[in-house]
Parts: sequence; structure tokens; C-alpha cells
Amino acid sequence: MPRHPPVHRALPVLWHGGDYNPDQWLESPEIIAEDFRLFPLAGVNVVSVGIFAWTRLEPDEGRYTFGWLDDLLDRLAAAGMKAVLATPSGARPAWLSARYPEVLRVEANRVRNLHGGRHNHCPTSPVYRRKVGALNRLLAERYGKHPALVLWHASNEYGGECHCALCQEAFRGWLRARHGDLDALNRAWWTDFWSHRYTDWAQVASPAPHGEGAVHGLTLDWRRFVTAQSLDFHRAEVAPLRAAAPEVPVTTNLMWTYDGLDYWKWAPHLDVVAWDSYPDWHNDREVLWETAARTAFAHDQMRALRGGQPFLLMESTPSQVNWHAVNTLKRPGVHRAASLQAVAHGADSVMYFQWRKGRGGAEKLHGAVVDHVGHEHTRTFREVAEVGRDLARLPGVPGTTVPAEVAVIFDTENRWALDEAQGLARERKDYPQTCALHHRAFWRQGIAVDVVNMDGDLSRYRVVVAPMLYMIRPGVAARLDAFVRAGGTLVTTYCTGMVDEHDRCHLGGFPGPLRATVGVWAEELDALYPSRSNRADAVPGNDLGLEGSYGIHTLCELVHAEDGAEVLAIYGEDFYAGRPVLTRHRVGAGRAYHVAARTEPRFLDDLYRGLAREAGLAHALEATLPEGVSAQLRTDGETDHVFVMNFAADAQALRLGPADGDLVDARDGSAVASPLALAPLEVRVLRRATRAGRAAPRH
Ligand code: GLA
Ligand code: ZN
Repeated sequence: MPRHPPVHRALPVLWHGGDYNPDQWLESPEIIAEDFRLFPLAGVNVVSVGIFAWTRLEPDEGRYTFGWLDDLLDRLAAAGMKAVLATPSGARPAWLSARYPEVLRVEANRVRNLHGGRHNHCPTSPVYRRKVGALNRLLAERYGKHPALVLWHASNEYGGECHCALCQEAFRGWLRARHGDLDALNRAWWTDFWSHRYTDWAQVASPAPHGEGAVHGLTLDWRRFVTAQSLDFHRAEVAPLRAAAPEVPVTTNLMWTYDGLDYWKWAPHLDVVAWDSYPDWHNDREVLWETAARTAFAHDQMRALRGGQPFLLMESTPSQVNWHAVNTLKRPGVHRAASLQAVAHGADSVMYFQWRKGRGGAEKLHGAVVDHVGHEHTRTFREVAEVGRDLARLPGVPGTTVPAEVAVIFDTENRWALDEAQGLARERKDYPQTCALHHRAFWRQGIAVDVVNMDGDLSRYRVVVAPMLYMIRPGVAARLDAFVRAGGTLVTTYCTGMVDEHDRCHLGGFPGPLRATVGVWAEELDALYPSRSNRADAVPGNDLGLEGSYGIHTLCELVHAEDGAEVLAIYGEDFYAGRPVLTRHRVGAGRAYHVAARTEPRFLDDLYRGLAREAGLAHALEATLPEGVSAQLRTDGETDHVFVMNFAADAQALRLGPADGDLVDARDGSAVASPLALAPLEVRVLRRATRAGRAAPRH
């Protein structure tokens, strides 16, 4: 588990900074001077610049004005700071849209957008690619070797899709390459349904609200194409950066809940994963620790995208956003806890949108480090500065990783297929939420989890949880089977193995190609109205420690245990009372568990506590974690950093165990005694030699 190299060797510490838009303040040099006074007070060492600055860089076609950016980067370098430099393709000047309307996006309803907003370009348009490429080449040649530059930030939050004629043509080309001929496409898409057979490639077009929406294979392939085409655009736009400045890494900022792009296809093309985290802290659906757990789920996916390499938290808000339904302030202490939580899960940065609030436009009321009042004497600024001080006191953390023995599969294509599926409980499929709840049961125990897609290498894990693995692509069942035979523990649930990669149902009984591994046949799937429920009764004496009854809601699969699979819990009610809810099938050296119904979270907590014991999983701390307290580990194989975070409403005390080693406070080296006291929202970062390090002889 060696330490990963820093994103850029010129900034080998935890990054602290954010989006900075002096391009909105060029007429106010005194404001920019203030920014440079305030940066060190906030402990900021890096800023992201140029993100939407096209009009300030190329005010008219072919007329470039780089002077302000020259000055800015020089000034940053002189101040000992670094820059993440963006390409401006996320929004474009009006002159460009007016002169070349083909750059504007066409929506699914086939209406071309007007100029405006942002993220509103066609990814196929040769004109847009040429214009972006020309400007990016100039940026790369001019700044590629600038001492302030540590990272390229390509565009901004790539997303959306375009249905213009150029994109349709590209889609058909992509389909030809994927399917070969029309017969194969018709077979894959099951087009005899409702007489949807295509007889000419020209008949094939993207899904539309007033057109095709019933051919699920088409919808899936369209979404795959959107990913491929957006990625192709990205690769084209960064090609000049890579050519002129090969030593400067490239990233783009991904979005947490966004399902428009399959980030697993993107990750290999980024040098580091970066993402924008905006949890709705203090919402009225959940308590704070539940929001923290959901956020952890997202961090664990972002880290897993590149196999455990530390990621960058590229954006977060220091106070509130402006786009949630209710824009609640982060309560005192939440910003620090959320920031250190990101680091605990593998972030090597805490960065913000935005450094300073703009005066106008849609985001003028969005949280920022510097408010309109203009000075540092605000609660938000003080809390940001405190995070800056914390990060500076953790020099051993950057480059370390999170050693996960558990994987939760949360697969983007599977999500798309479930979105399409008509049936089940249509409004309550809740695939992301379900994966997050399975993940949470490990989070509560201080067990690290990678959130992966179904194509990854699973052999490095000891437990793989695959909630609602509705789609099973070729090769996946064989790999899961091999994983179990080799001694792994697999957990599957209701709605598994129903369709293939073209969204055609698997024949021969669900869970399709996993039936032999899992040892169940899912004969029927019942959906319950919100007011209805069932229950799971633990089979007495089961060795997992499940006891009594657990609530069941929404989805109940009626399964038969096959091939010697044991039944560990049964339905308590309805005509299927007595039939299995939880089964275990021993295969080779491993075990496959199947959870046939959607249960209350307490069932998952108990189940995964039992499985952790059975599989001997490592916990970040030996101490039992009270509800709302989370412990996460970052390590380089020699030194562990254990982040202990109290997201509960009350103070907590943790009884540390002998296996926890000699812990010291990572920020000041002071010894840590048991019980470890944690005020509400307190985060302690503890350091110790790894178990391997401790086993070595001492003198
Ligand atoms: C996104 C964008 C930013 C900004 C923030 C606001 O993450 O990348 O430009 O709009 O949202 O929360
Ligand atoms: Zn287009």
C-alpha cells in the first residue's frame, strides 16, 4: 500500500482553496488586492481560475486578451500560491453562438436552445471543437510551464446531451461500430415488440418525449453514446494541453448524484478524480449523521473510480448553496467536520465554490469564503480559516489511501436500466439510496468500503455487496462466482440478474446467470404500497446474530432456496409467510447471501455486523462506535491516520482497545487516552504505526 505521488510535486500538501473569479472584478483592482491579502488569512494555497472566462480571454473571434491572466498567475506565483487553470468550454461568448448556431445544443424535443446559461454546447459540433481547441492550445502554450500551474481543470461539470443532426449521425456511427449490422441491432433491442423493427439506419434516432421511449435497448445505448461522445469531446479538448504541457495533470469536476454520464468510462482518462460535493446538511428527512453517511458513500465512489488513488474535493460550499429547495446554513462546526470527512475518505484537498461572492448573476447569493461585506470578520471566513489550519497540520496525510476490504457495487448502467424498468414499485425503486444504505451499515462499524461498478477487479475484496444488480453484463456472473469460490462473501438482493446488457430479460429463472452461485430461484416479485409492510423473522439460532423480527417494505421477492442454500430469515406475513428472506449458499471456499426483500436499515446493520465477524474484516478502530460516530483510516502501510468523527447530536466517549495501538493526536503529537471524548461535530485525527509497523521489533 505505497503512498501515491502528489497530484503535482510542486504542491505536496493537502490543497485548500477554491474557484476564484477575478475575471468578474477586472475593473476593481482594489478587490483583487484584497483577495491577495485574504488568501493567507484563510490558509488558502491554491485557486481554480478561468472556469467561465472565455469572454475575458477572447472577447471577439481571434482577438485574445491574456494580460489579466498573465498578471494573475504571476501574482499567485509571487505569493507562493498555485493555480488550477480551467479551459473555458463550460460557457461561451455570445459572439460564438451568434456566428455559429450549430454549437448550441438541441434538446430531446428537437428544439435548438438559444444562447444562454452554460453547459449548453453540442459535443459533436466541429466548429465548437475547433474553437475550444484553438483557445486551449494558446492557454497550454502560454501557461503550460508557468510555476503557479499545478493542474488543468477541463471545462466544468460536463453533462447534458445534444440531439442535433450532427449528434444523430454520430450516434448511428457509434451504433454501427457496436452492433455491426441492423439485424444484430434489432435482436439486441428486441424491436419486434410493438413493431419497432428498423430496416434502414436512417430510421434510428435518439429517444424523444414525443417519439421513441419504449425501446429500452435504444435508451440504454443512447445513454452510453452520450457518455462516449462527451468523453470524446473532453479528450479532444485536452489534447492540446497534454501536447504542450505533458507534465501537468488533467482533471475535470465530477458531480455526485449526476447520472447522465458513466464516470467509470471517464476515470481512466483523468489523471486524478475531482468532484463537487454539496450535501443538503440539516435537511428535514434525516438526522445529521445520516447525511454524513450518504456523503461518505459518494466519497467512497470517487476514490474507487481510480482504484483508491486520492481524489480532489474540487468544490464544496463553506456555508450554503443557492440551488437546494431550502438553502440552510451549515451550522457552526459542520463545515470543518464535512471537510475533514472528505479527507478521511481519501480527498487530498478541500476546495470551495466560491472564493468570493459575485455581485450579479444567478450565483450571487451562493455561499463563499468572502461575502459581499468584503472582510474576514465573518463566521464563515473564520471556519474556513480553521479548516486551513487543520489541513496544514496533517502533512503526513496526502498520498495515503483507504484500504477497503469491502466493495459495494453501484453501477451506472444498472442505474439507467432500473430507471427504465416499468414495473416494481415504479416511484420507489431507489437504487442509489439502497446502495447507500448497505454501505452505511459498514460505515457505522468503521469498516472502509469501495463503491465500485460491476466491471472492476473484485479479487482484492473479501466482501462484495451487490444491491439490486438488476443488469448483469457478460462476464460479471462468472467473476462473481469465481470470487465466491475463492473464499469471498457475496451479498445479493431482490431485483438481481433480471436483464442483460441490452436490457433483455435473462431466461431460465432470476437471478439469471447468478442463480447457481446464489442458490435461489426468485419466482415472483411483490411490490407493496407505502402503507403496507411485512416482516423478516430471524431463524432462531442463526450464527449471524440476527434476532427477532425486522420490518420489510416496498419490494418482496418470493424465492426458493436451492442446492442446499440455508434459510436464515423468513417472511412473517402474507401468503408467503415462512418463505425465505435471507439465504446463505456455500460455494467453494466462500458464501453467497441473498436478501430477498427491502428491509429496515436495522436488519442491514445486524447482517453486516455478523458478516464482518464471519469474514474477519478490519475496523479502523477496535472501539465500538456509538450511533453517528464514524471512524475512517488512511494509511501508507507504515503510518495510519485514523479520523474519528462525531456526527451525533451529543458528546460521545469511545473506549479504545489494545488493538488500536499507541495513538497520538496527529495535529500536535499529544498522547491519546481512552476513553476518547468527542464533542458534537468534533473530528479527531489520530496517528499510529500500522499493525505491521507495530509487529516489527522495537528497541
Ligand atoms: C457547481 C458548479 C459551480 C457552481 C456550483 C454551485 O458545482 O461547478 O460552477 O455553479 O455548482 O453550487
Ligand atoms: Zn449536437
